[in-house]
Amino acid sequence: MITLIKNIQELLQVRETSIEKISGAEMAKLPTLKNAFLIIKDNLIEDFGSMENLPQINADTIIDASGRVVLPAWCDSHTHIVYAGNREQEFVDRINGLSYEEIANRGGGILNSAKKLNETSEEEIYEQSKLRLEEVMQLGTGAVEIKSGYGLTIEGEMKMLRVIKKLAENYPVSIKATFLGAHAFPAHYKENKTGYIDEIITKMIPEIAQNKLADYIDVFCESGYFSVEETEKIMQAGIEFGLKPKIHVNQFNSIGGIQAGIKYNALSVDHLEIMNPEDIEALKATETMPVALPSCSYFLSIPYTPAREMLKAGLPLALATDFNPGSTPSGNMNFVVATACIKMKMTPEEAINAATINGAYAMGLSQTHGSITKGKKANLILTKPISSYYQIPYAFGSNLIENVFIEGKLLT
Ligand code: NIG
Ligand code: FE
Repeated sequence: MITLIKNIQELLQVRETSIEKISGAEMAKLPTLKNAFLIIKDNLIEDFGSMENLPQINADTIIDASGRVVLPAWCDSHTHIVYAGNREQEFVDRINGLSYEEIANRGGGILNSAKKLNETSEEEIYEQSKLRLEEVMQLGTGAVEIKSGYGLTIEGEMKMLRVIKKLAENYPVSIKATFLGAHAFPAHYKENKTGYIDEIITKMIPEIAQNKLADYIDVFCESGYFSVEETEKIMQAGIEFGLKPKIHVNQFNSIGGIQAGIKYNALSVDHLEIMNPEDIEALKATETMPVALPSCSYFLSIPYTPAREMLKAGLPLALATDFNPGSTPSGNMNFVVATACIKMKMTPEEAINAATINGAYAMGLSQTHGSITKGKKANLILTKPISSYYQIPYAFGSNLIENVFIEGKLLT
């Protein structure tokens, strides 16, 4: 099956050879081809180039992309889209003056979602979650990481991870699964934190790894949640079972989570709303991808990740949604890219690099996703007619997507 997309006004993120990630000043450069063609063969990018070099081919489908932009589908490396119900009441409580932390301290927050998750059947959780996955695919996401972390019991966590596995089996989008048993302490372990950590280490991790239900291990390293020491213990246990860390750090406080992540060679450290100079320094010359979640900053009215300082220091940066019922009930990567430009002062080029190739890196997918490179997955966004790709962040409330291709197939 061959699809030819011709007369593309501008083809973004073209990389002749596959790169792993992009850092610092290099992020300001987004390689593009004007007046381009792209050939999809089955599920892969077969070829691309300037229209004057269009080869003679027999395509099954020909799409005329005049006036339109084509770019790699978004790579969303941090989500919690498997959950039950919602937390709209907490949203209203926050409008009325309570903080996210105050709500959590009253037994709301993550524990509220955990209660709902454990009361809901696996089938029902799948049904609710698949709608969110379908929605984000329509919004241009072609690869997504999904975390557990609303079970907080071995049954609940396994249930979530099985739902993630089923989504991965039933949808063409690439999905990576992360075990986040260390998301919060369940109420009955409040006075026995080591008891819960022992359960994570001795029961949950071995069982999950044995059943091959997770690729990565995550911990919410934060004051009032998991300390740096506890985070290190859990990362270490995960690593012993082949789960590389991708951790929540520096959302509300800088307590040393970044340094702990680096020590254990974390694939990514995510959130980073509160960054001090030592945190930025520590990330230099490491393989750990910093991941910013601007929709979370927006929804909770907390600081944005200091992208400019980080890029100036030569660091790479990825952008992801954090789609979850509490801090970010949105999986719209287009909004993330726009918000990164508007609030974090990233340029459109930097934001697109962060949401494609660097997002792919933060899921271990940069060999197959995140750029227009021959042999990579044909996961693509085809925009509506637009004057230039600047429109993507500029027209922040508009849906500029005409078509999405995942694994070479047009989503309908
Ligand atoms: O990434 N910060 C920790 N976890 C999620 C929010 C979880 C929730 O509120 O349900 C986050 O923001
Ligand atoms: Fe998160």
